[in-house]
Amino acid sequence: MPYQVVYVKDKHTKLFIPGPTEVRKEIIDAMNEWMFGHRSPTMTDLFTTIVEDTKKFLDTNNHVIILSASGTLFMESTVMELVDDSVLCSTCGSFSQRHADIAERLGKDVDRLEYEWGKAVKPEDVREALEKKDYDAFTCVMNETSTGIRNPLDEIGEVLEDFPDTMFIVDAISALGGDYIDIESCGIDAIFTSVQKAFAMPPGLAVCVVSDEAYQRSQETDAGAWYAGFKRNIDYYKKKGQTHCTPAISLMLAYREQMKHMLEEGHKARSDRHKEMAEYTQKWALEHLDMFPEKGYWSQTVSTIKNTRGLNIEELRQTINKDYDMLFSNGYGSKLKEKTFRIGHMGDHTLGDVKALTDAIEDVAGL
Ligand SMILES: Cc1ncc(COP(=O)(O)O)c(C=O)c1O
Repeated sequence: MPYQVVYVKDKHTKLFIPGPTEVRKEIIDAMNEWMFGHRSPTMTDLFTTIVEDTKKFLDTNNHVIILSASGTLFMESTVMELVDDSVLCSTCGSFSQRHADIAERLGKDVDRLEYEWGKAVKPEDVREALEKKDYDAFTCVMNETSTGIRNPLDEIGEVLEDFPDTMFIVDAISALGGDYIDIESCGIDAIFTSVQKAFAMPPGLAVCVVSDEAYQRSQETDAGAWYAGFKRNIDYYKKKGQTHCTPAISLMLAYREQMKHMLEEGHKARSDRHKEMAEYTQKWALEHLDMFPEKGYWSQTVSTIKNTRGLNIEELRQTINKDYDMLFSNGYGSKLKEKTFRIGHMGDHTLGDVKALTDAIEDVAGL
């Protein structure tokens, strides 16, 4: 019988999985309000506050779209909106592969710049591929959650500068808010996240930051997106300060509360806290086991640790969940399960929280 993590109602298990991550009680409580109409002034106030606060937090003048959905919606719509014919998709794990799969499913001409799982995307390879053929867009994952790789987006952005007709699309689902990125200086045309990751909110909302160039390009493509269409969302916001369809109002209440906290902490300081947690976890992993991803490209939000001691990871997870009320993740999918495990140190966790988890792992595994 395989081990299974059991969820018990009203029992608080601290989440160190790479999303959904731990959400503070104040944020959950902020959702406890009576409903109001999505065309009311109350909604306009709520929605304009969360959009403008997000721009402020990310220090961007680009457009911000917030929709009721998970981030995968924007994997699909960025391709629909920005790719007429061909797209170059860099792949280095499950999620970056998903972006390429979606583009193929949408009937685009997809070329893959493929890397072995655990390896990072290299700027020089991106340049070589872009020099060979004209692409409408290039996709890259900022943080490959399946392997714990952090791609060098600054350097990749420099390469993209030499290919101004190629839109730069970034999946930052497990990074944004936990790993500093200057969206405009990197020349990113569309970057998106899901709020249950480093934003530390309950799942159900997705955020996409769109450049003016991408907004223009989306109007030139033959078949764009409707629900997550850039023009529809951005124009509706400009005109009415609302979403074009009924949004998940309760989640937006949580968003408003959490954004106050994120603005107070600041984008850079939040990133520094994540860096501190990541460096601690990496050092701990090297002392007791090993890191899985390529050196020099270790994620700031999720550490993928190599199981060099033949530990029974699922049993370890189960025991720590039961006895310590904390939960971390096994390795991703059949490729990495049991061979690796993942500690998500994203959102509002502190170094002390992560130390409590590694202490528990040491106790139970006898490290
Ligand atoms: C890098 C990355 N992309 C995409 C996704 C899919 O996100 P969602 O389930 O919020 O659509 C995930 C989820 O873990 C992710 O980590």
